[in-house]
Amino acid sequence: MKIGIIGAGNIGGNLTRRLTALGHDVFVANSRGPHTLTELAEETGATPVPVEEAARGAEIVVVTVPLKRVPDLPSGVLDGAADGVAVIDTGNYYPQQRDGRIAGIEDEGLTESRWTEGHLGHPVVKAFNGTYAQDILDRPRPAGAPDRMALPVAGDDPAAKAKVRALIDELGFDTVDAGGIDDSWRQQLDTPVYGLREGVDGVTKALAEASPERPAAFRG
Ligand SMILES: NC(=O)c1ccc[n+]([C@@H]2O[C@H](COP(=O)([O-])OP(=O)(O)OC[C@H]3O[C@@H](n4cnc5c(N)ncnc54)[C@H](OP(=O)(O)O)[C@@H]3O)[C@@H](O)[C@H]2O)c1
Repeated sequence: MKIGIIGAGNIGGNLTRRLTALGHDVFVANSRGPHTLTELAEETGATPVPVEEAARGAEIVVVTVPLKRVPDLPSGVLDGAADGVAVIDTGNYYPQQRDGRIAGIEDEGLTESRWTEGHLGHPVVKAFNGTYAQDILDRPRPAGAPDRMALPVAGDDPAAKAKVRALIDELGFDTVDAGGIDDSWRQQLDTPVYGLREGVDGVTKALAEASPERPAAFRG
């Protein structure tokens, strides 16, 4: 499958490693340009591209840049993606540590992914946001393994969500349907499921126990 990855840091880099190893055709971009991604390309066989080209023809696009950088992405960054493209958003809002205060999230009460959708002009599926980047390399397990981790996946488009859940299964993780994007506060920073290394039952329980209130440490 053709997959575009926008952001080649901790998460984007490790997804590039695993998805190329699975035989996918991966196009990867960062902010500084493809010439800065030669090492990752040599290691993985992925194709480094300018960010404007990362989504071209892709059936799945992963947007994995710091939240405050989402508005810097070129407008129309998803133009040219395949029909029915599923766009994965891995983002988290760290107002004090990294992103600064984002009014849409804090004053309008948008979930982080709803805010991101507004900038991308395309629906997203929220996944991997609570997954340690290293776990993408170290913790894949075959289906049915007793210690297989599960990841929550939220999104409004059932077809896109199903496509993302199938890809995550291929990567070696179970998934739990965490509802739509308006429900995705259940998997945001500092919720019980965030960083949780458990299976389907543990993740389901953690999602149910989440509180919509944003702790002071994660307000701007
Ligand atoms: N690290 C984790 O374990 C982890 C886990 C789950 C979720 N997340 C979330 O996932 C997102 C990415 O995290 P990360 O740790 O992978 O970030 P990171 O290591 O800081 O990497 C960010 C990447 O985004 C690229 N980027 C920034 N602005 C861009 C732009 N305008 N156009 C194209 N590329 C751009 C950067 O490119 P340059 O280097 O060229 O600027 C870099 O490759 C964040 O929201 C984070 O909170 C992280």
